[in-house]
Formats: sequence, C-alpha cells, structure tokens
Amino acid sequence: MKNIILVRSAARALLGSGGRNYHHHFSTAAVVKQHGGGAFGNFYWRRMSSLPDIKDEEDSKDKKKEVINNNNNTVISSYWGITRPKIQRDDGSEWPWNCFMPWDSYRADVSIDVTKHHEPKTIGDKFAFKTVKFLRVLSDLYFKERYGCHAMMLETIAAVPGMVGGMLLHLKSLRKFQHTGGWIKALLEEAENERMHLMTMVELVKPSWHERLLVITAQGVFFNGFFVFYLISPKTAHRFVGYLEEEAVISYTEHLNAIESGKVENVPAPAIAIDYWRLPKDATLKDVVTVIRADEAHHRDVNHFASDIHHQGKELKEAPAPIGYH
Ligand SMILES: [Fe+2]
Ligand SMILES: [Fe+2]
Repeated sequence: MKNIILVRSAARALLGSGGRNYHHHFSTAAVVKQHGGGAFGNFYWRRMSSLPDIKDEEDSKDKKKEVINNNNNTVISSYWGITRPKIQRDDGSEWPWNCFMPWDSYRADVSIDVTKHHEPKTIGDKFAFKTVKFLRVLSDLYFKERYGCHAMMLETIAAVPGMVGGMLLHLKSLRKFQHTGGWIKALLEEAENERMHLMTMVELVKPSWHERLLVITAQGVFFNGFFVFYLISPKTAHRFVGYLEEEAVISYTEHLNAIESGKVENVPAPAIAIDYWRLPKDATLKDVVTVIRADEAHHRDVNHFASDIHHQGKELKEAPAPIGYH
C-alpha cells in the first residue's frame, strides 16, 4: 500500500500543474468515479508512460464530453445510480410525465350508469346522505356557476378519503398480520385517480390566494375529521364517500351541460389529460369532463360496495377488491 502511495506521489510530482488542471476540469461526481474504479491508477500509469501530452489533452476533452452527456441524461447527478429510463409513447415520442407512466393511463369506461343512487336506509346512511347534501348547499352558495373552480376545489377534498382508508387498512394489515384482499391498493388507486383529476383541473383554472387558503383549511379539517370517522365507522365513512361521489357526478353533469350550452368554453384538453386518459390529440374539455365523470361514477360504486360489505357484517378483505376499476 505504501509503495502505491509513493508511486502516486512521484507521479504527481512529475506531472506538476498539468495534472492538477486535469482534475479541475471535472465535476465532483467524475472525480469520485475515478477514485472508485481503476481509472485513477490507469490515468497516472499512462502519464508515466511515453504517450505524448497531446494525446492526454484529447483524452481529457473526450472525458469532458462524456461527463456533459452523462449529466444531460440525468436530471440530477446521483451517486446512487438513480436515473429515469427513457420511456416512449406508442407513437415513439418521448413520454413527458414523471407523475404517471403509460401503464398507469387507461381508457375510461364512459358507459357506466351516471344516474345510479343508493337509497339511504339505515340511520348511518341517512346521516351520511344528509351531511353530504348539507355540504353541497354550502359549496353551491360559495361557487355558484364557477364550474371549473368548483371542480378543482372538490378534487382537493375527493382525493383524501381513499388515502385515509388505504392508510388505515395498511396499518391494520401490519397490526394483524393479515392480507386485506387488495383493498389497500384499490383505495390508494382511487386517491391517485382523484389527484390526477386535480392535476388536470389546475391546468384549466388557476386558484386564487383565498381559494388556496380555503383548501389548506378544508384539508386540515377534512383529513382529521375523516380519519376519526373511518376509525369509528368504516361502514358509514364509505357510504359518505359514495354520496360525495354521487354529488361529484351531478356537478360534472352540470359542467357538461354548461359546456354544451356554450356557457363554458369548450377549450382544448390539457396535455396531461390526453396522456392520462389516452384521449385523441384534438380532445376538448367536454371529453375530459366526460371521462372524469365516469371515474366519479366508478368511485361511487366502489364506496357503496365497500359500505355494503360492512353492512353485511363482513370485512372488506372478504370481498375481492376492485383494483384497476375505473
Ligand atoms: Fe374526482
Ligand atoms: Fe371521485
């Protein structure tokens, strides 16, 4: 080991300032790479051989190019080797999204019945239904006919229950050493799907400062409230979400009517929506609202189904979870 250090020291002495400059051209990552592999030793070995200096200059330029190219392929240079592989659309163009991948995209089943309604029968059902109707009155008073804004704000709330339910089932699975029949995944998928609705809506409507403040407040109240609600009665909590989704279907139907009547301009669909729902390139807001409404109808059914399972005195894991149900 001592001999190696001596040889390297001698090499440094022989190289003088030229050798130091060579290092200065490289990024820290490149230097780390040299020390990590055999390149460090090889470099000094060549220096001590009879290769002309001009060769090293060229070599240095090549390596600089290599480092620049590497940096271009990686968004942030990572010691851990974290890179995002290049992914393409079906037409060969580069996939532009990091928040979802082509295999997360789908064609919405718009044939779903958007008029279905669960008749509240039990006290819990009636409580859930009336609470949702009361919240509906409040939101209608606040938003009136601002459909885009209403939808955007609704999605900030709609994406919470799936995450809370999924999280609580996850913790239950850990506590009880049990499978959950796929319900964790199904509920987290719902939360992610709702968040994608929000990411789409925010492309069309920019929230004002007071709307952002309202969202922060509403999230603080709703997340904690729903968390406790789900702990006390998952049966009623799922029913409540089922009714919330019924209202979402009604809201998006009104939104569609406003587009059709010309009250709301049928603008081109945002790029994120075209990729997420595999819509045609010339898709419009009407197409986007149609697929979102279909998603909401699916969420409605999933949550009423979950509540029904509990009403039958069973646990969710006893029924197959609707994973990938859109
Ligand atoms: Fe939604
Ligand atoms: Fe929904």
